[in-house]
Amino acid sequence: MIKLHDKYFKPFISAAQIDDALARMADEIASDIGDEVPVFVGILNGSFMVVSDFVKKYPKPCEVTFIKLASYEGVKSTEDIQRLIGLTQDLSGRTVVILEDIIDTGNTLAEVHRIFKNENVKALKIATLFYKPEAYKKDFKLHYVGIEIPNKFIVGYGLDYDGLGRNLPEVYQIKETQHMTNLVLFGPPGAGKGTQANFLKEKYNLVHISTGDVFRFNIKNETALGMLAKSFIDKGELVPDQVTIDMLNAEVEKNADAKGFIFDGFPRTNAQAESLDKLMEAKDSQINAMIALEVDDEILVGRLLERGKTSGRPDDADESIIRNRITEYYNKTAILKDYYNAQEKYFGVDGVGSIEDITVRLSTAIDKL
Ligand code: IMP
Ligand code: MG
Repeated sequence: MIKLHDKYFKPFISAAQIDDALARMADEIASDIGDEVPVFVGILNGSFMVVSDFVKKYPKPCEVTFIKLASYEGVKSTEDIQRLIGLTQDLSGRTVVILEDIIDTGNTLAEVHRIFKNENVKALKIATLFYKPEAYKKDFKLHYVGIEIPNKFIVGYGLDYDGLGRNLPEVYQIKETQHMTNLVLFGPPGAGKGTQANFLKEKYNLVHISTGDVFRFNIKNETALGMLAKSFIDKGELVPDQVTIDMLNAEVEKNADAKGFIFDGFPRTNAQAESLDKLMEAKDSQINAMIALEVDDEILVGRLLERGKTSGRPDDADESIIRNRITEYYNKTAILKDYYNAQEKYFGVDGVGSIEDITVRLSTAIDKL
């Protein structure tokens, strides 16, 4: 992923794919034109890379020239009217091939046709490396198209976003959602997860999604997914991963503008972790880190027994039950530690000390993401 100005872009078309497309176009054009010497005309600025790489692949003699789009000054400053300039060569009787980096609305192409109307060329062919069919509003024929792409903004390989990105050897596509920080928060019972989640959500403006809360909300409000989940719970069966994922998805959708999410109590299995990755990918995002609060067992037991004196939670009062919960936590989460470790996304944070000290440690880890 890269950032140019205020926007993020993700890898979209590799240098190898571009190379293949240009090789195909060069072959096709050469076999159509035969032994005539064509004039290739690049439209600056964007097409400089296309033209350079294309003509190196063209197997026969050819001429190369450039024309440039210039903004029209002094009309209406709000309207970006542009005209092509720089056509000084006599092209009458010649076969001209326009080489474009990208054809979007086709406005530039309309200008090309206007400028060539009186040039008495023998033939005017249009070739473009990228073409956005959904954006194209004209009906000029496009004779050679390298790669059709969806109507989303791209940069690289000559194409820029406000001046930047032209030098990149491959093409990147804009990320629809802005950069998010998505955390999976883990910790054994008594580690202080709830306290720290509240702090992190404020500091980083994240939405805290606790699977337990999401379940309770859906069941209480009798949503379709809640009723479905309840039907499994009532039978004493585990709620299928897909139902849980669908609930989380709905929760993520509800917070479309979020700067990121803290997932708490999820994932619990490899299958769930993979589903969560897919969910994030669909949002043009990713899980950035699994952050686990690490606390020694004896300290956890002490903390929970202490809490049990006032919380009234029966599972906090019995030491053997507490020890079982801790053991179960480690048994269940070991696979997830491996899962995120393999992606270099596991961060263990020392969960012993004052609340403030621990939040500082967590922030240090998150700020490095
Ligand atoms: P047109 O809309 O076909 O006239 O395209 C106009 C110009 O807009 C192109 O020559 C590019 O310079 C620029 N352009 C269109 N789509 C993109 C894009 O996705 N990224 C960067 N520049 C673009
Ligand atoms: Mg252009």
